[in-house]
Amino acid sequence: MTDINGKVALITGASSGIGAAAAFKLADAGVKVGIAARRINRLEALKAEIAEKGGEALVIEMDVVDPASVEAGVRKLVDAYRSIDILFNNAGLMPLSDVDQLKTSEWHRMIDVNVKGLLNTTAAVLPQMIRQHSGHIFNTSSIAGRKVFKGLSVYCATKHAVTAFSDGLRMEVGQKHNIRVTCIQPGAVATELYDQITDAGYREQMDDLAKQMTFLQGADIADTILFAVQAPAHVNVAELFVLPIDQGW
Ligand SMILES: NC(=O)c1ccc[n+]([C@@H]2O[C@H](COP(=O)([O-])OP(=O)(O)OC[C@H]3O[C@@H](n4cnc5c(N)ncnc54)[C@H](OP(=O)(O)O)[C@@H]3O)[C@@H](O)[C@H]2O)c1
Repeated sequence: MTDINGKVALITGASSGIGAAAAFKLADAGVKVGIAARRINRLEALKAEIAEKGGEALVIEMDVVDPASVEAGVRKLVDAYRSIDILFNNAGLMPLSDVDQLKTSEWHRMIDVNVKGLLNTTAAVLPQMIRQHSGHIFNTSSIAGRKVFKGLSVYCATKHAVTAFSDGLRMEVGQKHNIRVTCIQPGAVATELYDQITDAGYREQMDDLAKQMTFLQGADIADTILFAVQAPAHVNVAELFVLPIDQGW
């Protein structure tokens, strides 16, 4: 097992859902967590929750779309703790709609956050991990990064990009820099992700889906992260495809 007590993590999209759950679980295991997002009040509340359990968190206001904001956030974390051992690239959004609805600003937003944002944080953290000759990068793809679904064309395109990038990154930095790369591909998780669906039909469809099956919780995904990060140093868990048992598609 890899001992993660005292390690340092940067988690993007830590203000809710999977990111918040991962921050909580990692902190509980002794990791100092840099919790990054735009909603500072949510991050402050999470920091207090973590502190109550004896953990340590650093609030980092970050818009992953803005490279300067990302670089400043990474600097803040390194100044505080002198290392970054775990990067959880998790910020993302999924406003569903059919392509013929031409919700082009939502398409661009998904590409900016889900793809370019992930590249921005990777670029900002990688030099630190290379200097350390160690690290573990988790990228949140999705079941939508393995399969394509109607209504999710652009989202699937962004998550397929994350899956492809993760695999390439793993091949390039594993042996050369001793950095592990894990691509997480969750099925349905009960989070705020669905709140951003502006298409009434798809919003209703997602609400119906939630009635038909027991969605995963963010904590379920966080547990799989703990498993991968605590695996022995020579083990790279390259993919985590985790679904509700009822999600038969
Ligand atoms: N829920 C699911 O069923 C599911 C399934 C597969 C994959 N995923 C993926 O899991 C990841 C986490 O989503 P979630 O389900 O936990 O949803 P969520 O609760 O809506 O969390 C999304 C997070 O992304 C952050 N974010 C969005 N835009 C950002 C930006 N420009 N800069 C920094 N942070 C930004 C949000 O923080 P702020 O708004 O505070 O910035 C929030 O913390 C996403 O990549 C999503 O695609 C989710």
